[in-house]
Amino acid sequence: MSDKVSRRQFAKIAGLSAAGMANPVGAVEVNPAPPPRAGTGFPAGFVWGTATSSYQVEGAVNEDGRGASIWDKFVRIPGKIEDGTTGDRANEHYRRYKEDIALIKELGCKAYRFSVAWPRVFPDGDGKPNPKGLDFYNRLVDELLKNGIEPWLTLYHWDLPQSLQDRFGGWRSTETCKIFGDYAAYVAAHLTDRVKNVFTLNESGRFVYFGYGIGIDAPGLTLPQAELNQIRHNSAVAHGLAVQAVRAHGRHGTRVGPAENIDACAPAIDTPENVRAAEIALREMNGGYLNVIMTGQYTDAFLKFAGANAPKYTDAELKIISSPVDFLGLNIYAPQNYVVASDQGAGFMPLPIPKSFPHMNSDWLRVGPETIYWVPKLAAKIWKTDAIYISENGTSGDDVVRPDGKIYDTDRIMYLRNYLAQLQRATSEGVPVRGYFLWSLMDNFEWVYGLNKRFGLYHVNFDTQVRTPKLSASFYRNVIATNAAGV
Ligand code: BG6
Repeated sequence: MSDKVSRRQFAKIAGLSAAGMANPVGAVEVNPAPPPRAGTGFPAGFVWGTATSSYQVEGAVNEDGRGASIWDKFVRIPGKIEDGTTGDRANEHYRRYKEDIALIKELGCKAYRFSVAWPRVFPDGDGKPNPKGLDFYNRLVDELLKNGIEPWLTLYHWDLPQSLQDRFGGWRSTETCKIFGDYAAYVAAHLTDRVKNVFTLNESGRFVYFGYGIGIDAPGLTLPQAELNQIRHNSAVAHGLAVQAVRAHGRHGTRVGPAENIDACAPAIDTPENVRAAEIALREMNGGYLNVIMTGQYTDAFLKFAGANAPKYTDAELKIISSPVDFLGLNIYAPQNYVVASDQGAGFMPLPIPKSFPHMNSDWLRVGPETIYWVPKLAAKIWKTDAIYISENGTSGDDVVRPDGKIYDTDRIMYLRNYLAQLQRATSEGVPVRGYFLWSLMDNFEWVYGLNKRFGLYHVNFDTQVRTPKLSASFYRNVIATNAAGV
C-alpha cells in the first residue's frame, strides 16, 4: 500500500516530471442546523453536486451494443485489480439510474456529474454510432431534469474504446485525438439541448502516468518518459479538439472545460514569500497539462526539465490545446506539495512529506484541508479564470455497517467539514469557486482497488445492490440546505 502512496504522488508530478434533516436521507435522526450567520456561508447560487463515472457505476458492459473499453480488458489481467473484481456489474446503474437519481434528489443536490461511456456511443470508437448507447444518456439526462438536477457531462473518464487501443495505440496516437473530437461533436450535437456544462477529459495527470507509465491503470503499459510526455501532450490536444467540437456542434452557450487532478501545491507556512513560491510551484508542477491548456505555452522550466524528453509539437497544436474554456474543473483530494521559497531553480522547493503525515482510509489521501483554499486561490490568479468548479473532492472510509444497519462515517464528515470550511474561506475572500461535486454519490468500482475502497455518501451492498445512506449523507444534505460548511 505504501507503494500506492508514492505512485499517487508521482502521478501528480505531471508538470516537471512528468441536516441534519430528518429522514428520508438521514442515516440517523438529527435536527436541522441553525441557519448560518450572515456572511459565513457560500455565495448564493453555489452549485452543489455529486459525481460518478461510467465504468465505475454502470455495469451492463455487454448490453445494448456497447463495445469493449480498455478497462474491460485490463480488469481481466490476473493481479491487476486488488480484489479480483471487475466493473461488469458495478452498481448496475445502467438499469437502476432512476433509483440513483432519487438518491441525488434526497441530498438536495441540484447538479450531478456523470460521464458518457465512449464505447457505448461508438462501440469501435469511430465509425457507426450505436443509437441505443446514446439513448441511455438521453434517458439519464431527462430523468435528472425531471427531478430538478442539472446534468454535468464528462466526455472521457478513462473508458477508451479497446478498438482505438488496438488500432492506434490509444492516446499514443493523434489519430485517437481526432476521433475523440468527432465523438465529442456527436455527443454535443445530441445532448446539449439539455446539458449545459461539459467536462472534456477527467484527470489526464492520472490516466497518462498510471495507464502508460507504471501500468497500474488500463491499458497497463510502462513506457519511457519521452513517450509519456508525448501522450500527455496528445491528451491536451484531445482536450482542445473537444472544446472546439462542443463550440461548433453544441447549442450556443454550452460551457466547456477540463476536470483535472491538479498537482496541488500549498505554502508550508503562510508568509508572502512562501505564497509566492507556491504560486510558481502550482504553475510549474502543472506545466505539462493545465498550464499549457490555459496559456498555450510550455514554460521554460518545464521544457528545461524535460530536456530531450520534451514533447514534440507544432504551433497549430498549441492553438488547439489552448482553445478558450468557460471554466476550470479541479479535482482536489490531497496536498501533493508543501512548498517554501528558494533562491534556487524556479524559486520554490517542494518539501518531503513525513511518513507520519495524517491520511484517510486510502494511503494516498493525505489530510490537508487548506489545499482546497490555496489551490483555487492561486489557480484563479495564475490562469485568470473567473469560474472554478471543484469537480471532485471526497474520501474513502472503512464504512462498517453497524448492527443497527447504519454507517457512522464520522471520519468522512471530519474530512468534508474541514475541506468545506477551507473552501468557504476561499469563496468568502472572493475566490471564484462556483460549485463543488462530491466524489462520490455512492460506493463504486474503485479502479485498481476494485470494491475494496468506498467513497460514497451512500453505502452499496454489492451482493444485493441495496444503497444505504451513511451519516455523511445527512451531513452533506445539511451543508446544501444551509449553503454553509457548518463551522
Ligand atoms: C479520482 C478519479 O482520481 O479519484 C475517480 O477521478 C476515483 O474516478 C477517485 O474514483 C478515487 O481514486 P482511487 O485511486 O482511490 O480509486
